[in-house]
Amino acid sequence: TTVESERRSLILVNPGLAPRRATVTTMYTAYRLNSPNEVMPPHRHSPSAIRFGLTGRQNFTGVEGEDMVFGPGDLVLTPHDTWHNHGNVGDEPAVNLSVLDLPLVETLNAVYFEHDYKEAGVRKEKQSTKVPADYSERIYGHGGYMPRFVSHHRGTGSASPMYCYRWEPLRELLEKHRDWDGDPYDALTVEYVDPVNGGPLFKTMTFFAQMLRPGERTRAQRQTASLLVTPFEGGGLGHTVIGGKRFDWKNFDTLAVPAGEWYEHVNDSKSPIVLFIASDEPALRAFGLHKRWGRTAAGDVEKLA
Ligand SMILES: [Fe+2]
Repeated sequence: TTVESERRSLILVNPGLAPRRATVTTMYTAYRLNSPNEVMPPHRHSPSAIRFGLTGRQNFTGVEGEDMVFGPGDLVLTPHDTWHNHGNVGDEPAVNLSVLDLPLVETLNAVYFEHDYKEAGVRKEKQSTKVPADYSERIYGHGGYMPRFVSHHRGTGSASPMYCYRWEPLRELLEKHRDWDGDPYDALTVEYVDPVNGGPLFKTMTFFAQMLRPGERTRAQRQTASLLVTPFEGGGLGHTVIGGKRFDWKNFDTLAVPAGEWYEHVNDSKSPIVLFIASDEPALRAFGLHKRWGRTAAGDVEKLA
């Protein structure tokens, strides 16, 4: 059940927002540990979530009959209202990072959970497989080509139908552009997108991978979106300045960047670092409220969006 699964979750509650379970006003991050060979029964709910593998090669999430086994750096979606079950199908413990839009959904008074998973009217503790285990990669893993022989309407149709984004092709893409200038504010940033329409994965949240080259420092920016930033890869040491305060971090830490605060990232190590970033930008865009400013090299403030 959710209660059992949450027992092994460490939710990052921002003291500035407590007692709400929120890391920034709209989202929270949780680190979840799954013991070897345990899979929870299926459930579904109105909040949307992602899992990002940190340790263990056999994290498991089943979504709408697609069974996904994932390891470090792989991203798996559990869009709102899709039946899903989490666990670990390996012999070693596995830790993954979850990001949920629960605080936003709570604010909108729209939270609900369901646990009575049924197939043909019969209650089930496990979802039957409906598509091949590599469905997401098979159908959507070739950028620029869209198969016309399957329906792209999965779940409610309001989230990306690609449920699994593997680390390897993303890392390869970043590596290929390692020597490019990149963006002065966002370095080498890649957004995870819905392959059908190029939009964000969810209507509430979008996700990025941002590579910081050794010694790289991004220019300061501020925006109306809030961010959750998790350095990933190697032993990555660096720091981020948020609202004038320096926060030193290492691999797998999570930083909360509240809306409206100036921030800049610095890679203090000798190897590249990839930041995994969640943002509530799509929710703000939906209301025409997404704005972004940057500080130029000369120190002036310029409007970026
Ligand atoms: Fe869930």
